[in-house]
Amino acid sequence: MKALPSFSLENKVVLPAGAAGLYGRGLAAALAGTGATLIIASRNADKIDAVAKEETARGHRVFAESFDQGDEASVTALRTRIEARFGCLHGLVNNSVLRPMKGANGTAAQFAESMRVNATGLMLMHRVFGQAMADAGRGSIVNIGSIQGMIGPSYELYEGTNIGDLPPDYFFHKGGMINLTRFYAGLYGPRQVRVNCLAPGGFFNLQPEAFVKRYCEHTMLNRMADSHDLGGAVIFLLSDAAAYITGVNLPVDGGYTAK
Ligand SMILES: NC(=O)c1ccc[n+]([C@@H]2O[C@H](COP(=O)([O-])OP(=O)(O)OC[C@H]3O[C@@H](n4cnc5c(N)ncnc54)[C@H](O)[C@@H]3O)[C@@H](O)[C@H]2O)c1
Repeated sequence: MKALPSFSLENKVVLPAGAAGLYGRGLAAALAGTGATLIIASRNADKIDAVAKEETARGHRVFAESFDQGDEASVTALRTRIEARFGCLHGLVNNSVLRPMKGANGTAAQFAESMRVNATGLMLMHRVFGQAMADAGRGSIVNIGSIQGMIGPSYELYEGTNIGDLPPDYFFHKGGMINLTRFYAGLYGPRQVRVNCLAPGGFFNLQPEAFVKRYCEHTMLNRMADSHDLGGAVIFLLSDAAAYITGVNLPVDGGYTAK
């Protein structure tokens, strides 16, 4: 048997949520290039429409939808719209994140708003879309976590910069995402729906030079992540090539957490 065809996403319908942001834009481009039909969805309609137009102009099948991940009716309505037009999803990538809390002393209301989208909303994405996949007897969900869900803050990297006030909600929900992945992998596994998590490292976004230098030195590959780094692992986990992989958390971090 030839292995390469099993990596193909052609004829699959995939929803990358939060596909207009920093990591999401590169992810949308990588997935669009596979020949899959993509429904890219986020809460910002203008931004997501612009991404869909750019990818359509490149000859890809990419459709934009807006929704609020923290609102059950909105998530359910998104599924209804997708199923009416494309049928049941083959793949879901949970890449959305809301960052209402700006530092250690952010308010309890900001923490609660974060949980509405990043905790309750994440659960709803698994329940609403995962249940439909389970009923269809196939599917793959890929959660985009973070190394900050695996390890505590490395404050020494931020010394002398203005970006070192890290928010607790992020460490909380990214840690929770890894075990929620295992929960749904166990729940849906018997009906051949796989659920996995990727834990990316820091994305280069013009952070202060001192931070970038220290961060790069902390990785084994001596660099931060860019827009090409996430796509390959997501495509693999969505594809049939990963048919016997479920419940894992795979760091995509240049060796940051291995050191
Ligand atoms: N940026 C990094 O350095 C980094 C590092 C490790 C992991 N990650 C992870 O990668 C993923 C993407 O991060 P990013 O930095 O590209 O984020 P970003 O803030 O640039 O984009 C987030 C996306 O989520 C969408 N979103 C936010 N709230 C939403 C809601 N209520 N409903 C629907 N969509 C909503 C936004 O519209 C946007 O498209 C996240 O899971 C994040 O935790 C990022």
